[in-house]
Amino acid sequence: MTRQTRADGTLRHLLTLEGLSRGEIERLLDRAQQYVRPLGARPATSDELAGITVANLFTEPSTRTRVSFELAAKRLGAEVVNLEVQLSSRAKGESMLDTIFTLESLHVDAFVIRDAEAGVPGLVAASVAPHVSVLSAGEGSVSHPTQGLLDALTIRQRKGHVDGLTIAIVGDVRHSRVARSAHQALTTLGAAEVRIVAPPALLPGDDEFRGCSRHTDIEAGLRDADVVMALRIQRERMQDEAQLDAAAYFSEFGLTSARLRLARPNAIVMHPQPMNRGVEIASDVADGPKSAIRDQVRNGVAVRMAVLATVVRPA
Ligand code: NCD
Repeated sequence: MTRQTRADGTLRHLLTLEGLSRGEIERLLDRAQQYVRPLGARPATSDELAGITVANLFTEPSTRTRVSFELAAKRLGAEVVNLEVQLSSRAKGESMLDTIFTLESLHVDAFVIRDAEAGVPGLVAASVAPHVSVLSAGEGSVSHPTQGLLDALTIRQRKGHVDGLTIAIVGDVRHSRVARSAHQALTTLGAAEVRIVAPPALLPGDDEFRGCSRHTDIEAGLRDADVVMALRIQRERMQDEAQLDAAAYFSEFGLTSARLRLARPNAIVMHPQPMNRGVEIASDVADGPKSAIRDQVRNGVAVRMAVLATVVRPA
């Protein structure tokens, strides 16, 4: 695995939350919290990254993550370029690394990379010049570190802490990079129990999600949970499971308000989006009083500001 830290121990890349200490995660969350503003107020801005150029390279579709990385960089005073890699040089046969080196020559200091293939952010991180940082914006089904951080920040805001909480991650865990990064963050932050709740075909392999309890019955999985994190059915990552019938899934595994009553009375509901309403989550739950889904989006910008400001070295 590519090293994320510099020789002096500071964070240079963010490819995974695995191996980050509790202190490092808490420092990122504390910094992110300083950038959070209520809706209606002006967003936080600064010139911390003035003179820095950030390139967003997304080879998979993204709305929230790409826009929030772009806003995060701009609100810190950086310049931003967005590249649709598969439409430009990749399609012409130029390798990803040639594109990276071209951008490096154009003074790009940080790359934000989303790719369906596992290993791409790590390969780029291992190949760039020492002053350049690489941030993963989602790597295959392996990891999505800034999503894990924004999920942790959202829980911390709503619950005051992560320590001692029971968190149920419900749905297509097998294909979910969000679940993998959330598990790493929440376990490191002291969650009492992280439950994996999925139909048998969507459970992850036995060698993953160590320390988590597993439930194939949604009702048992939701009982007394403090946090319920619903996941999207990710058809694009499925092979034979792609036949999955949406109506049948909703009736067996959909997060409805009746099922949510099994969780703690003050439980919160999260979803990384995009949501399939009426498949993994009922609309009234997504928009209901327990929903923290919009906070997650707002926190995404703050977390990405904190990560950029942490990894990019002032000149
Ligand atoms: C997620 C992703 O792309 O991993 N979306 C996001 O970044 N918020 C989740 C998903 O696609 O289901």
